[in-house]
Formats: sequence, structure tokens, C-alpha cells
Amino acid sequence: MQQLIFASANKHKAEEIEAALPQGFQILVMKEAGITEEIPEPFNTLEENSAHKAVFLYERLHKDCFAEDTGLEVETLHGEPGVKSARYAGEEKSFEKNIEKLLQQMDGQPNRKARFRTLFTLIFDGQQYQFEGICNGLITEKTSGTAGFGYDPVFLPEGSTLTFAEMTMEEKNRYSHRKKGLDQMIQFLINKKSQIS
Ligand code: IMP
Repeated sequence: MQQLIFASANKHKAEEIEAALPQGFQILVMKEAGITEEIPEPFNTLEENSAHKAVFLYERLHKDCFAEDTGLEVETLHGEPGVKSARYAGEEKSFEKNIEKLLQQMDGQPNRKARFRTLFTLIFDGQQYQFEGICNGLITEKTSGTAGFGYDPVFLPEGSTLTFAEMTMEEKNRYSHRKKGLDQMIQFLINKKSQIS
């Protein structure tokens, strides 16, 4: 069993990742590994914040671990909210207020193109690797659905008539940025293990 510790306290992300893991892999969230501090995200790129979170955990545990940082990048807002997605409407990190601000910014805007971009950072055998997952889609004009988290009620992934918040976790995982990045990370680990054995 390959055990990986996930540098996140976000239970939605952990559930999505757990639902998508193949046999032979197990994740522990950092709290289960005894780390309860909030990991800061001080940088201006997803790449740096993701790496920072993984290194933070590795320095404390010296075990194989990973982190991910995700942003919603809206074309007409020049990539915003991007790395600031969690705090778009302020430090309290409210999903509702973030959506409200986004819909206000997009009011009357015909170009609704957006994408979620996730950066995974894996630390395996002390070495650092990154994997990217992208999901293209559109920002809807109003919220639909109550499942998921964050901007899910206003994000319509390409090829779907439902927002992420109208999908089950399994359906979201057929489209999602997080699943695409995770698949690459898992494939990398499978290849590494086959080289070792
Ligand atoms: P972070 O990666 O924890 O910094 O997440 C940034 C923010 O992006 C979260 O607080 C959510 O608002 C949003 N977000 C991240 N992933 C998703 C997703 O899969 N669906 C909807 N919103 C997301």
C-alpha cells in the first residue's frame, strides 16, 4: 500500500481525491498525521504555493506527501481570481461572498470562458515533482446546485449541461481539474514503483 499524506485541511478536496484513488493507494490528511497548523499560502502563483505546502509538510514528517493549489482563472478578468480564489471577496474565505463578487464582476459580460487549474506537488523519496490539471468551462449567470464547494455552483465544465454543484462527486471527477492532475501523479507513482520492483 502506498500511503501519501495530503497537505490540506479541505475536506471536500480530500473526499474528491479519495473517491478517485485506485487500489493500492491511501491518503491521510495532515490532521491524521498529527499536523494541525494552517499552512500559509504566501506566494503569487499556484506552482509556488503548492510546492510550499508540500515542503512544509515534508519538513515536519519526512514522509511521502503531496499538496495541491487550485485557482479559477476567468478569461475576461485576465486570469483572476486565480491564486486569490479562496480570498477573492476577503480574508474570511466565504464561498458565497466569492461567488457574489465573481457574478458582479461578470455582470453583462458575454465572454464567460474560465478554467480551473490545479497544481499538485508530490514529494516522493525526498524528490519534488509537479503535475497540472486543467478543466475548461464557462461561468454561469446564476448559481445552480448545492453539491461540492467553492465556485462549483457557477462553473459549467466543457461538455456538460450541469454545473459542478449539480453533479455527484463521481460525475465531477469525470471532468475535474483535480482528477486530471491526480491521475498524472498516480500514473507517475505507478511507473516509479514498477521501475523499483
Ligand atoms: P486552494 O487551493 O485551497 O487555495 O483553493 C482556492 C479556492 O478555489 C477554494 O477556496 C475554492 O473557493 C476554489 N476551488 C478550488 N477547487 C475548487 C473546485 O474544485 N471547485 C470549486 N471551487 C474550487
